[in-house]
Amino acid sequence: MALELDFADKVVVVVGGTSGINRGVAEAYASHGAKVAVASRSQDKVDDTVAALQAAGATQAMGAAFDVRDPQAVADGLAGFHNAFGDFDVLISGAAGNFPALASEMSVNAFKTVIDIDLMGTIHVMKAGYAFLKRPGASIINISAPQAFIPYEGQAHVCAAKAGVDQITRTLSLEWGVEGIRINSVVPGFIDETEGADRLAPTPQARQAVVDSVPLGRMGTKTDMANMCLFLGSDAASYVSGTVINVDGALYQRGSGQFGQQMGAMLRSMSSRG
Ligand code: COA
Ligand code: NAP
Repeated sequence: MALELDFADKVVVVVGGTSGINRGVAEAYASHGAKVAVASRSQDKVDDTVAALQAAGATQAMGAAFDVRDPQAVADGLAGFHNAFGDFDVLISGAAGNFPALASEMSVNAFKTVIDIDLMGTIHVMKAGYAFLKRPGASIINISAPQAFIPYEGQAHVCAAKAGVDQITRTLSLEWGVEGIRINSVVPGFIDETEGADRLAPTPQARQAVVDSVPLGRMGTKTDMANMCLFLGSDAASYVSGTVINVDGALYQRGSGQFGQQMGAMLRSMSSRG
């Protein structure tokens, strides 16, 4: 079978799709002719993204503002997309929050906030989207993180949340696979020009330490991530389900490595415990 990346009239929903990696994914689907819907908390970001999707070539584009921590708002938002566009071919869950903080310095609410956005948000999106998925043939893509399988100082909240995301991916690939629904996680490495990378590597020195750690010698791009998500949403990936796929230039074969240690040391130096 030829690699077919024509998404003309396919319905693609990207939750958390109004900036960074996920917006790049939404724009890539738009440029391949899909009907694309995006959601996030900010109506301004939603409106800006919908305009960009139309400019990129989407057959149709729409958006909604909601918080993934509110299951009813997620259900209402996805129902609105389904009413307008019909059954979903591709559902992407990528909303996330992150800040570097040692567990000893983090309030219970700080930890819970990331669990609520990343982990609970993912199950809210998947459960709300379930009734609207094309059967057989739908592809769900959860945007995960290396913290799911690598302990990373200053990231206990994200490690716990994203590990949960990947276990949801694996478990629901069993439960929903029998209905012809595929579910995979994609793990970005350090992706250039994104909020996530800027928060973990905020200085030129930290950024250089990242680049020096990547075997392929560069940070990832939003296009690298979009290409993987296009593949997973296509028929070319019709036998790929239940997997967690790294797009990281082999960085995480090293664990969190020297860069992770440097972040731990930096956070300890700022700690109130001295
Ligand atoms: N260090 C320690 N605790 C922090 C923190 C930091 N840098 N930033 C926020 N918190 C704590 C807050 O103090 C609060 O805890 P408290 O109530 O005990 O004081 C808790 O986290 C929630 O913060 P709040 O600002 O109310 O949350 P929010 O819902 O408005 O925003 C965040 C969520 C904090 C995750 C925010 O950074 C966000 O919206 N992020 C989205 C973008 C993003 O993170 N992109 C990268 C993705 S990888
Ligand atoms: P980003 O630009 O901050 O994107 C996050 C998106 O989620 C935005 O559209 C944001 O829009 C939305 N969002 C955040 N909280 C939300 C909430 N509570 N409800 C609804 N929407 C919410 O981040 P990014 O760096 O591109 O990261 C994208 C994904 O990749 C995340 O899942 C992240 O964990 C993962 N990742 C990124 C990297 C990296 O190098 N950047 C590395 C590993 C993993 P609003 O602000 O409008 O809500």
